[in-house]
Amino acid sequence: MALLYFGLDVLSMSLGLLVFFLAILFFRRRTHWILPPGPAWIPLVGNSRELMSDPDLRIPLRRLQKKYGDIYTLYLGPRPTIFVCGFDAIREIFIKRGIEFSDRPAVSLPMILLNGGKGIVSVSGDIWKNQRKFILVTLRHFGLGRSKLEDKIQTEVKLFLSEIDNFNQKPFKMMTPIQTGVGNVISHLVFGGHFNHNDPRFKVLMDGFDSFLRYVSAGSLVTFMPILRFVPGDFFGIKKIANKMQVIKDFISELIEEHMNKFNEGNIDDFIDAFISEMKKQDVGKNTIFTKDYLASIIMDLFLAGTETTSTTVTWASFYLASRPDIQSRIFEEIKAMVGTERLPSMQDKQNLVYTEAFIMEVLRLCTIAIISASHAPVSDVWIRGFHIPKGMQIVPDINSVLSDPAVWGDPENFRPERFVSEEGTLVKPDEFIPFFTGRRNCLGESLARMELFLFISALVQRFELMPPQGETLDIKDVDGLFGGTHAPKPFYIRAISRQAKETTYNV
Ligand code: HEM
Repeated sequence: MALLYFGLDVLSMSLGLLVFFLAILFFRRRTHWILPPGPAWIPLVGNSRELMSDPDLRIPLRRLQKKYGDIYTLYLGPRPTIFVCGFDAIREIFIKRGIEFSDRPAVSLPMILLNGGKGIVSVSGDIWKNQRKFILVTLRHFGLGRSKLEDKIQTEVKLFLSEIDNFNQKPFKMMTPIQTGVGNVISHLVFGGHFNHNDPRFKVLMDGFDSFLRYVSAGSLVTFMPILRFVPGDFFGIKKIANKMQVIKDFISELIEEHMNKFNEGNIDDFIDAFISEMKKQDVGKNTIFTKDYLASIIMDLFLAGTETTSTTVTWASFYLASRPDIQSRIFEEIKAMVGTERLPSMQDKQNLVYTEAFIMEVLRLCTIAIISASHAPVSDVWIRGFHIPKGMQIVPDINSVLSDPAVWGDPENFRPERFVSEEGTLVKPDEFIPFFTGRRNCLGESLARMELFLFISALVQRFELMPPQGETLDIKDVDGLFGGTHAPKPFYIRAISRQAKETTYNV
């Protein structure tokens, strides 16, 4: 009993001391640096509850901006984090002074689970510059943003359309067929092949990334406290996610081994081959970033960043098509007039399909799948607008603050593709249109994503009329509101009625 009493005493004393030292640490930090204003925070927990105060992340973000201004500090767990809102502040920091803010902060727990802090998304400095350059050059070589890739995307578009045909006008969820379609485009680029639509390995891959993104959340402690992975048991669900990630890593390792075994320098077919070729050129004894570990992490990053984002955007698009028949028929009429119904729309048609493209831009703007961008960090201690911020501190660009700013868009809450069409009928792209973010660390896959969005969505409307399930209506209030790694719609059903009998004549 005495021992228990003594034990408890030691425990509470240790906890008291811990809180005391942490308070001193934070207090010193606050006095040493001049951080932007923000709400009072609780040691260790920080202001996480501020962000979790509403299930719709946009609500606390807008409230905080209104109260503390365009640049404010929130403690996410124990880490002070600077939020940057509004286009002026974003332009000043991430465009004009982009080089100074191009690092990533210390690797977060989800990233440790995903890519072990390697890959492309979480790295900084020379490693990031070299990997980004290598990935961009290599993907361009395999057709990124050019017509070379178009054929491969069109193959996936046709499979996607026939997959939807198989639902036979019955209600279905768009996420599954589109995830397979865009996931397979990344597969073509990365390992030169694609998965069958019902391949169980592909389902495991997509389910793993899906769970991962739903698990990551802006206000959650797990996202900002890597130390939590050492807590016994699985209170935070870390082990469950880690296991799913491990299955994906094992599968990717198998793909890499297969490529290593059949590698032929004269026949570089895909990203894995190109990386292996670079690995062979590097001095084996030297400290190099061209290792199998980095390759596996980059592949994880490309699948995660390139699949869920694009498929969530197409799923949002299918919601607006099915719930706004007026907009859907205007897109269809445009496609019918400019492309016809006997062949699929191609990238060459894009310049003529102004309203279709404006629709896609409006989906990207209003649905803002990345409410906040990935965190950045200053490469050295910096001053911004009278604040003194240390190297490595987490800086979060608030993309939604720009894409929903009434001063920019007038009526940001309305879904109105015409806002991107000029009086002369040409496409308008305001500087504030930043769904892929901006500056030096903008989305590496933007041109691929925009190509996929155009080819998948225009073909979908050309081939099918989308509508709610019989006797039902689709309302934004019922579907809006899944906030994790992306802002996704809650699952909803739609029907696709083929126009083929009367309109389209090509075969899929
Ligand atoms: C609608 C689709 C997409 C959206 C809205 C989107 C948006 C974004 C955003 C907001 C960022 C963070 C930028 C920052 O660091 O501040 C990002 C980064 C990134 N995206 Fe995308 N993305 C999309 C599709 C893709 C695709 C298809 C790929 C595939 C190649 C991709 C690859 C990446 C990579 C690798 C990064 C990290 C870049 C770096 O750290 O240097 N994304 N994306």
